[in-house]
Amino acid sequence: MTTLWWADGDQFLGRLAIRHQLTPELMELGGHIGYDVRPSARRRGHATAMLAAALPIALKLGISQALVMCDLTNAASRRVIETNGGQLLDVTARKRRYWVPTAEGSTGSD
Ligand SMILES: CC(C)(COP(=O)(O)OP(=O)(O)OC[C@H]1O[C@@H](n2cnc3c(N)ncnc32)[C@H](O)[C@@H]1OP(=O)(O)O)[C@@H](O)C(=O)NCCC(=O)NCCS
Repeated sequence: MTTLWWADGDQFLGRLAIRHQLTPELMELGGHIGYDVRPSARRRGHATAMLAAALPIALKLGISQALVMCDLTNAASRRVIETNGGQLLDVTARKRRYWVPTAEGSTGSD
C-alpha cells in the first residue's frame, strides 16, 4: 500500500491510500483507493483534488483502472468518485462500486 498525505504547507488536510493489489476482501469492501479529509477541511474540494492527484500515481503502480467504492449513504464520496470519471460497476448490499480510469483521456474500457 502507498499512503499519501494531502497538505497545505505544514497543515495536514487529508490522507489517501493506494492498495497495490486487490484481495477478495478489497474487491468487496475496500477497493484500490481509500481517502479521508480532516473534518475541519471538508467541503473545500480537497477529496476531489486528492483523488485526481492520486490517479497518475496509481497508473505508475500498474493500476489502469482503480476500483473505488463508497457507502450507499456517502453522498460526498460518491460525488468525488463520479467527478473523477468513475463508471458504476454495481451496487452491492453495502457499497457503490466504481471503476475509475487512471490514464488521462481513458474511456475506462481498456
Ligand atoms: C468523503 C470525504 C472524503 C469528502 O471530502 P471533501 O474534501 O469534503 O470532498 P469535496 O470537498 O471534494 O466534495 C466533493 C463533493 O461532495 C459534496 N459534499 C461534500 N460533503 C458533503 C456532504 N456532507 N453531503 C453532501 N455532499 C457533500 C461537495 O459539495 C462536492 O460536490 P460537488 O462536486 O458537486 O461540488 C470526507 O467527507 C471524509 O473524509 N469523510 C469520512 C471518510 C470517508 O467517508 N471517506 C471515503 C470513503 S469511500
